[in-house]
Amino acid sequence: MRGAAGHYVAGAKRVLRTVVPLVVRQRLARWLGRQAWLAPRHWWVTELLRDLAERDPDAYHRFLWAHHLGYAETYEIPLRFGAANIHQTRHLLFADLHAHLWGRGVDPARDIRSVFEVGCSMGYLLRYIETDVFPGAETLAGIDIDRYAIRSGSAWLRTQGSKVAIAAADMADLHAVLGERRFDVILCAGVLMYLQRAAAADVVRVMLRHAGRVVALAGLAHPERDNGALEDSDVRRRDGTFIHNLDAMVRQGGGRVLARRWEGSRMVDGNTVYFVLAEAI
Ligand SMILES: C[S@@+](CC[C@H](N)C(=O)[O-])C[C@H]1O[C@@H](n2cnc3c(N)ncnc32)[C@H](O)[C@@H]1O
Repeated sequence: MRGAAGHYVAGAKRVLRTVVPLVVRQRLARWLGRQAWLAPRHWWVTELLRDLAERDPDAYHRFLWAHHLGYAETYEIPLRFGAANIHQTRHLLFADLHAHLWGRGVDPARDIRSVFEVGCSMGYLLRYIETDVFPGAETLAGIDIDRYAIRSGSAWLRTQGSKVAIAAADMADLHAVLGERRFDVILCAGVLMYLQRAAAADVVRVMLRHAGRVVALAGLAHPERDNGALEDSDVRRRDGTFIHNLDAMVRQGGGRVLARRWEGSRMVDGNTVYFVLAEAI
């Protein structure tokens, strides 16, 4: 009986996606996203847009993040700002970054003067960087496609007297956003996974061009093979995000890998660990 019901529901969803145009379903998804009382609204949003996810994954992820839908919902000030809320994998990334800089004779507290973050959400990592990671930085900036996150984060940062400046933009436009500016450190953590390989590689190339000292990348780790050995990007079935070979992207983008970490299937607080620190040659 359950099997038959499931079959009808699947059929109804297919008909809905065939009959109702995508723009109408996207409008409905945005409306659903505002209905906080509706517990399974993320599920509904995903179901409404499943065909887009399959046909054009970049547009699908871009739509969800740009409208603060689905996985974006946990990105709220009380849940993200503050050292205790910073994800363990980001603490690990900052520790690796410090170790690398010290190894090159760079004092992280004194010599890092500017930082840019791609996919900065509300600016909570930049704020932590300002207070704890690179306290000597005068310029801390970032972009994110989630306008809600940029608005709420900017308002919060102002109340804290922070120097962090964040703006709404798509990372696909990074080159235009950065113009002639260069930053000692460019950070991009948990973001390239929302783009397919070619588009992600373009963003890596642009970051390398604008980084004075180091580009710090964190991506999804392949559970079985070192990402550095992947011939092509893989798809994480759970959410349709991409497991990239960031090492290869760095080399193709005219850069060199300075340090890296791949921990396979180990989960740290629900995240995998794959970092690449790089510079332009
Ligand atoms: C998983 S969160 C990571 C946030 C933060 N970097 C961190 O490590 O905690 C991914 C972020 O990437 C942003 N994002 C996704 N696609 C983007 C795009 N095309 N351009 C700019 N930001 C994007 C999302 O809005 C979201 O804030």
